[in-house]
Amino acid sequence: VLLGGSPGIGKSTLTSMALGNLSGAGRRTLYVSGEESAAQIKLRAERLGEDALDVPALAETDLDAVIATLVAERPDACVIDSIQTMHCAELAAGPGSVAQVREVAGRVLRVAKATGTAVVLVGHVTKEGALAGPRVLEHLVDCVLQFEGERERTYRTLRALKNRFGSTSESGVFEMRAGGLVEVLDASARFVGEATGKPGSVVLAAMEGSRPLLVEVQALVSPSELVPPRRAATGIDRNRLALVLAVLARHGGVAVGASDVFVNVVGGVRVEEPGADLAVAIAVAGATRGLAPAGEKPVACFGEVGLTGELRSVAHHERRLAEAAKFGLAVVSPEVAPSLRAALRAALTPRGGMSEVGIPA
Ligand SMILES: Nc1ncnc2c1ncn2[C@@H]1O[C@H](COP(=O)(O)OP(=O)(O)OP(=O)(O)O)[C@@H](O)[C@H]1O
Ligand SMILES: [Mg+2]
Repeated sequence: VLLGGSPGIGKSTLTSMALGNLSGAGRRTLYVSGEESAAQIKLRAERLGEDALDVPALAETDLDAVIATLVAERPDACVIDSIQTMHCAELAAGPGSVAQVREVAGRVLRVAKATGTAVVLVGHVTKEGALAGPRVLEHLVDCVLQFEGERERTYRTLRALKNRFGSTSESGVFEMRAGGLVEVLDASARFVGEATGKPGSVVLAAMEGSRPLLVEVQALVSPSELVPPRRAATGIDRNRLALVLAVLARHGGVAVGASDVFVNVVGGVRVEEPGADLAVAIAVAGATRGLAPAGEKPVACFGEVGLTGELRSVAHHERRLAEAAKFGLAVVSPEVAPSLRAALRAALTPRGGMSEVGIPA
C-alpha cells in the first residue's frame, strides 16, 4: 500500500494508529521512520494512546538495516515513513531521488512478498498534489491511497486511487483531534447543521467514493478593481469554476465579469466531480443577487452544468437523494430542473428585500 499526502496532513498519525489497532488485535507490527527520532515517535504514540505505544518503532534511513529487521522480525504489518527518506547505500544518488525511490520500493516489495508482510509505504506529494517520485512506484504497489484535506482545517479524507483487490470507491472522513484522528461517521449531519442558508450558500449532495456526503458550498461575489478580477476556488477545480461562471453569464443571466468571485467548500473538503457544478452555480448566483433558498432549511443540489446551459445527470442519483432526504432537505437536481436557469429559479427566491431582480425566466 502506498499512502500519499501533503506535509503535516497526518500520514504518520494515521499509520501509527492503524498499526496500534493491529497490534491491539494481536498482530506483529513494525513502524519504521526515516523522518523522526525514536523519541519523537514515542511522543506521538503517547498522544495516540496505549495501543500505539505498543508498536515497535525503528528510526532508520538505511535500507539494508530496515530490510534486515524486516527479515528478522517478520511482522504482519509494517509502515515505512517515508519512502523518500530511505537510502540504499549502493546507489550514489541522494535519498528521495528517482533512482533511490525505485530501488527502495523494489527491494521492500521483494522482501514483503517473501516474508508475507503487509507494507504501507508513506509517500510525499509534489506541490501539485501528485505522488512524488517515479510513476513506477504506483504500478508496483497493490493499493494507492491519498490522504488529503487542508492542514489548518480539521477534516481529512482518505481515498483509494488504485486498488488491485477491491473497489477504489471506498473513502473515509477523519477529524484531527488531540488524541489522533477520529473517523467522522456522520460528516453530513455536521456540515448540514453548520450550513448558513444565507445568500451564497448551498448544500451540495456530493459523493465521497461510494458514500454520499452533504457539504456546504459558499460563494462570495464582490465588485472588483482588478482587471481581470479574481477567481479563487477552495475545494473545487478552478477550471470547473471558470466554466460554470461562463455558462452562468451566457445562459443563467448572472454575469460576474466585473466582480471577484470566491468559492469555498466548507470544512476543507475537496469535491472533484462534475456533480458539484450546480452547487457552484447556485452559490454564485445567490451571492450575486442576494438570493437564498426559501424556507428554514438549506436546499441540497447536485448536477453537471453543460456548456449549452443544460443540466446533466450525474452518477449515484438515488444515493444523493436519499442522503438529502435523511436531513429533510429539498433537492434541486437535473431530474427536476432540465436547465441551469430552471434550477436557479427553483433554488433561489427573493428574500429580505435585498434584491427583487430574481432570475429572468
Ligand atoms: N496535540 C495535537 N492536537 C491536535 N492536533 C495535533 C496535535 N499534534 C499534532 N497535531 C496534528 O497532527 C499533524 C501532524 O501529523 P503527522 O505528523 O501525522 O503528519 P504527517 O503527514 O506525517 O507529516 P509529515 O509529512 O511532516 O511527516 C499536525 O499538522 C497537526 O495538525
Ligand atoms: Mg510524518
